Amino acid sequence: MAEKKATLSLNDKEPALELPIYSGSMGPDVVNVQSLTANGLFTYDPGFVSTASCESKITFIDGGKGTLLHRGYPIEQLAEHSDYLETCYLLLYGELPNKKEKKHFEKTITDHTMVHEQMIEFFSGFRRDAHPMAIMCGVVGALSAFYHDSLDITNERHREVAAYRLISKMPTLASMAYKYSIGQPFIYPRNDLGYSGNFLHMMFATPCEDYEVNPVLAKAMDRIFLLHADHEQNASTSTVRLAGSSGANPFACIAAGIAALWGPAHGGANEAVLNMLAEIGDAKNIDTFIAKAKDKDDPFRLMGFGHRVYKNFDPRAKVMKQTCDEVLNELGLHDDPLFKIAKRLEKIALEDEYFIKKKLYPNVDFYSGIILKALGIPTEMFTVIFATGRTPGWIAHWHEMISGEYRIGRPRQLYTGPVKRDFIALDKR
Ligand code: SDX
Repeated sequence: MAEKKATLSLNDKEPALELPIYSGSMGPDVVNVQSLTANGLFTYDPGFVSTASCESKITFIDGGKGTLLHRGYPIEQLAEHSDYLETCYLLLYGELPNKKEKKHFEKTITDHTMVHEQMIEFFSGFRRDAHPMAIMCGVVGALSAFYHDSLDITNERHREVAAYRLISKMPTLASMAYKYSIGQPFIYPRNDLGYSGNFLHMMFATPCEDYEVNPVLAKAMDRIFLLHADHEQNASTSTVRLAGSSGANPFACIAAGIAALWGPAHGGANEAVLNMLAEIGDAKNIDTFIAKAKDKDDPFRLMGFGHRVYKNFDPRAKVMKQTCDEVLNELGLHDDPLFKIAKRLEKIALEDEYFIKKKLYPNVDFYSGIILKALGIPTEMFTVIFATGRTPGWIAHWHEMISGEYRIGRPRQLYTGPVKRDFIALDKR
């Protein structure tokens, strides 16, 4: 693969190091720096701003152009013409399914939506006011205590069944976390409903009366899952890959991804956006918050704005904003005060020199929370929705790594601590 080379001259005494340069099918070339260790050197790249951690064929992002492709298909086209389970299939298998494959995949996922009945016991161990992400970290990792027939990561069939189980059971566990928090009974999955409609039914139905799923809201839910399905080597996906590189089972790896996603700088931002909009409270306060976001001495950041990779619009944010309009109109909430504040905030920020210079645009989290709130989903469940949507991406990256050549991930460091020194006896300190 290596045709081009980079040369690194360390000093004029030794010959320059030759480092192979690789080109992908799209995106920047990469410099293979693996030989540096043999020359007593490490690269230094905190936050992995300039580091390609792996080779992958799943998702491509061009941050400058605002491009997001899943197996080559633009996210805008998938959002318009595809659905979440079809996108899950695409991420896992690399191609869009034909009619037969799609029907079989949908039935397989439907047939795995129930969880082991004993999993119900886990929930009673949590306080009712536990954050649902804390519950998800626990119960998803605990799946490995129940499904021993899909833990052998060297077995292709085990890997495939684990992928199905995780995609199928995340909505069931997510809705159980919600029902537990409000003291309502768990609602079993229904095989006559589609993936997203089934999730809304498990979230909002009660044993006391029939719950009719609104197809417009089910479609919006499906699109939210789809827009979150994968996003290259983001923090939580990199966590899943690192956990998987040690040979940990897929359920444990996804639980690690859920933990990483929880942070407000990552998947926790959608919850933080709603809290921020509520704190702003009225459009007249927007300028104060914009000033806080620009103040170097103020830790406040405009949640839902900015991105490590996108230095243009996050293409998901555009689709999310359009979906937001559709849902609020469907529900007669187009005068939703938070949505009005969000639209005003976006307009002001996009015209502000600071945000323009730093290329800070709305990201996937800026509008998603408003839709979820309109769907009746409480703020603390927003990151759980993100985790549910992201599961096929996590598992596709895990599967891509495990089914190929891989080594345990083990970064090094720039050490700036104390140099070697001898122990000092207690009576001499
Ligand atoms: C997700 O990686 C992914 O793909 C993630 C994700 C996915 O699908 O997996 O897309 C999902 O996590 C989206 C991002 C959600 N997070 C937020 O909305 C939180 C608010 N955004 C920021 O915290 C920040 O923008 C990050 C974390 C998203 C990106 O941080 P970076 O790349 O490390 O950028 P940075 O912190 O170095 O910021 C560059 C500059 C800084 O100013 P200077 O030090 O150069 O003077 O921009 C400023 C920052 O202070 N800045 C912001 C800002 N984001 C960056 N200033 C105000 N408000 C913001 N939101």
